[in-house]
Amino acid sequence: MRARVFPDYEAMSAAAAHAVVDRLVEEPSAVLMLPTGTTPLGMYGRLVEMHRSGEISFSEATFFNLDEYLGLLPDHPASYHVYMKENFYGLIDADPARIFVPDGAADDPEAECERYQAAIGEAGGIDVCVLGIGRNGHIGFNEPGAPFDSRTRVVRLSESTRLVNAGDFEADRAPERAITVGMATIFESREALLLASGTNKAAAVAAALEGDVSESVPASMLKKHPNTTLFLDEDAASDLGRGVAS
Ligand code: GLP
Repeated sequence: MRARVFPDYEAMSAAAAHAVVDRLVEEPSAVLMLPTGTTPLGMYGRLVEMHRSGEISFSEATFFNLDEYLGLLPDHPASYHVYMKENFYGLIDADPARIFVPDGAADDPEAECERYQAAIGEAGGIDVCVLGIGRNGHIGFNEPGAPFDSRTRVVRLSESTRLVNAGDFEADRAPERAITVGMATIFESREALLLASGTNKAAAVAAALEGDVSESVPASMLKKHPNTTLFLDEDAASDLGRGVAS
């Protein structure tokens, strides 16, 4: 796992967008796995700009999302379906038949997890997995303690994550449960890019990069991954090299 540190959020976002585009230029039919949250918004903005200026087409690519809240209809404003449509999928030339987001409103969530996992397999696995990181080190919705051998499944969100994400909901907490792609599937991605911005991510970044590989810090699993790059702004990198990671 290597870290690239950029002076600010814009530079970090532009570099991440270029890394995705470089991969798509090499392999237009690449399979991407994508995150939500505030962090990747700058990257999506740059990718949309590059698409509009004719630099890149996404028409042959396949897209999987990392996660979705359980119980939200796909048109719920806080759903990751809506987030992706508004910030990325609806603004590029993606083929709707090759866009996959877990269905949080499925009647049978367990069956939906199996279906989603099978679709990833049928696509040949993930070429590039783009990740954010939670303040507690989570990736996707794999909270601390998530088994490294886990697959797509229903998970219970931590209280801290529900509080941090509450702002998207007309409630004081985000939903209790979600569907997330598992740790093993993320690990099997041929390349992983983890984006982090801001001082509120500094401790999680330091724990992931400098601490022990442990299920208590999900992102630390990526230290064992052969091709992972962290894209950090200076704030997110501000705890590195201080020996504060446990
Ligand atoms: C959410 C998402 C994660 C995301 C994380 C960080 O809980 N499920 O995939 O990486 O939170 O979000 P943000 O970028 O808004 O800090």
